[in-house]
Amino acid sequence: MLNWKAVASAALAGVVVLVVGQTVVAQDKMKSMPMAFGGSSDVAFAKQLWSSMRNYLLVGEKRINVQPFEGNEPHGAIQQVLEREIKVGKRSGRVIVKVNHMAKDVKSVYAEPNKFIGAYTVMFKKPAGYDPENKDWFWAKYKPNGEIDTNPMGMKLAGRVAKGMDEGCIACHRAIGGDDLEILR
Ligand code: HEC
Repeated sequence: MLNWKAVASAALAGVVVLVVGQTVVAQDKMKSMPMAFGGSSDVAFAKQLWSSMRNYLLVGEKRINVQPFEGNEPHGAIQQVLEREIKVGKRSGRVIVKVNHMAKDVKSVYAEPNKFIGAYTVMFKKPAGYDPENKDWFWAKYKPNGEIDTNPMGMKLAGRVAKGMDEGCIACHRAIGGDDLEILR
């Protein structure tokens, strides 16, 4: 006669081994995959990028005050866009800075250009190979004071944000952006 207890416990042991095995494999995969965004090198670069943008007067209270205009979600009702070639460390690249104002109209931003800033969202063109599938853009979202913003999971929004996910900078800009993932041109 079969000893059902023994069979059951053997089966259970098998399942446990299987589950543990899969978790280990999954963890190994995560480790070997470079983090798409929010990792230490992306965060370090985002900090460098911020201070460079500030030196070029593209962010911060003393930034060049370009024409505000009405824009769309998620970037704030009123926006300013600044764009130019800048040097970050030893490398140059094109940067597009979007100032997201949570203001009700353009007139209020004219009157008080620093009062309604919700965030700075930035695209910086990295050297070829950084993220070839997404035109090598480095994406970042900063709070008005230059601190790097985080998503609801606490991940820092700097790097290939949020590559492979259904929502976020890359997903939306891929869906509605042009050849270079830019939306407004
Ligand atoms: C749900 C869609 C969506 C998401 C998510 C999104 N954007 Fe945008 N983005 C837009 C739209 C739409 C525009 C064009 C301006 C407008 O109409 O507001 C834009 C414009 C921009 C621009 C100006 C250059 C251009 O493409 O026109 C930058 C820079 C930018 N976004 C950065 C970011 C960053 C960084 C993130 C992530 C932190 C992000 N965006 C997430 C929709 C999105």
